[in-house]
Amino acid sequence: MLDDVRAIERVDRHNTGRVLAEFPEQCRRARALRISPALAVARPRVIVMVGMGGSAAGADLLAACAAETVDVPVLVHRGYGLPATARREALVIASSYSGETAEVLSAVDVALARRVPVIAITSGGTLGALAAGHRLPRVALPPGLMPRMALGYLVFPALRVLEACDVVVAAEDDVDEALKVVADQAADLVPEVSADKNEGKRLALAIERRLPAVYGGSLTATTAYRWKTDLEENAKLLAVAGSVPEMNHNEIEIWRGPAARELHAVLLREDGEPPEIARRFTLMRELLGPAAGGVSEAWARGHGRLARLLSLLYLGQWVSYYAAMLRGTDPWPVPMLTELKQRLGAADGRGPAP
Ligand code: F6R
Repeated sequence: MLDDVRAIERVDRHNTGRVLAEFPEQCRRARALRISPALAVARPRVIVMVGMGGSAAGADLLAACAAETVDVPVLVHRGYGLPATARREALVIASSYSGETAEVLSAVDVALARRVPVIAITSGGTLGALAAGHRLPRVALPPGLMPRMALGYLVFPALRVLEACDVVVAAEDDVDEALKVVADQAADLVPEVSADKNEGKRLALAIERRLPAVYGGSLTATTAYRWKTDLEENAKLLAVAGSVPEMNHNEIEIWRGPAARELHAVLLREDGEPPEIARRFTLMRELLGPAAGGVSEAWARGHGRLARLLSLLYLGQWVSYYAAMLRGTDPWPVPMLTELKQRLGAADGRGPAP
C-alpha cells in the first residue's frame, strides 16, 4: 500500500504528507521570523521554556542541544504555573502554536505576577492577545497548521530568542547544516520514494502491527518521546519511549517474556555516540533480538547536535505518517484531544479550544 500514491491520497485526506514534505521550507521561513517588540533582557540565570505537546517538542530539542554546551540551565516546563526557580533573573519562553493552551496561559499569568521577563511564540489566540496587551516580545507564527506539524516554527524562533539574550545553543553553521540535512532527508522520505529506498516506509513496515518501543541515548531521550507522541497522535498507535542507559535498569526486563513478541524496539542512534552508550545499544540488540517481535535502528544525519536531533525528529514524523497510512488512519485530526480541550475550555472560561 505504501508505494501506491493514490491509496495514500485516499487515506491522507488533509494532505499531511504535503505538510511534512514542506518541512524544510517551514524551517527556512521560521529562521527568518523576528521578535517584535525586541527582547531587551540581560543574559538570564535560567531559561524556562513552557509548552505542551507539539509546542513542547521544540523546547525539548533546544534543551538537549544546550545540555552539552551552554552554561545556563534550560528547563522545559510542561504544566500549569511556573517552577519556583522562575524569578526575575530568569527568562520564560511561552510556546503555544494555537495560543489557547491553558497551561501555557497560566504560566504567563504567573510570570506577569512575578515580573519574570516573558516572551511569547504563537500564531495568535489568547496568548497573542495577552502578549499584545502587555507589550510582551513575541514571535508571530503563521496559522493553519496542526501544532505538531509546526515543529520548525517552534524550534527556530526559540533559537533566535536564546541568541537575543546571549545564549547560543547552535552556531550559524550548525543551523545551516540542519536546514540542509532536513532538505536532503525530505527528498528521501516523500511517498514517491519506494519502500526499498525510503527509511520512513521501511520502519513503519517493520513495526507492522506491533507496539513500538522507541529508545534514545541520554541526549536523544526526548526525541524518543516525540516519536512516541507522533505515533500516538498521527497513527493513533500506542507507543513506549525510553532512554539508554536508564531503561537498562528497569524496562529491559519486559523484553524476556512472551509479550515481547508483540513489541518492536526502535533504537535511535548517532555516529559518534559515546562508546559506553554504543556498547549498551549493541548489547541490547543481542539481548532483545531473540524475544522481540523486531528490533530496528534509526540513525541521525549530520554532524552538529541540532542537525542530528532534527533529522531524527523529522524521520519520526514520517514513520508515524506511514504507520497511519498502513492503518487507514487520516493523521491530521485528533478528535479526542480536541474534545477534551473544548470541554475544558468551556469549563475554565478561557475561550474556545483549537
Ligand atoms: C496537536 C498537538 C498537541 C498540541 C498541544 C498544545 O497537533 O500536537 O500536542 O501541541 O495540545 O497545543 P498548542 O501547541 O497549540 O499549545
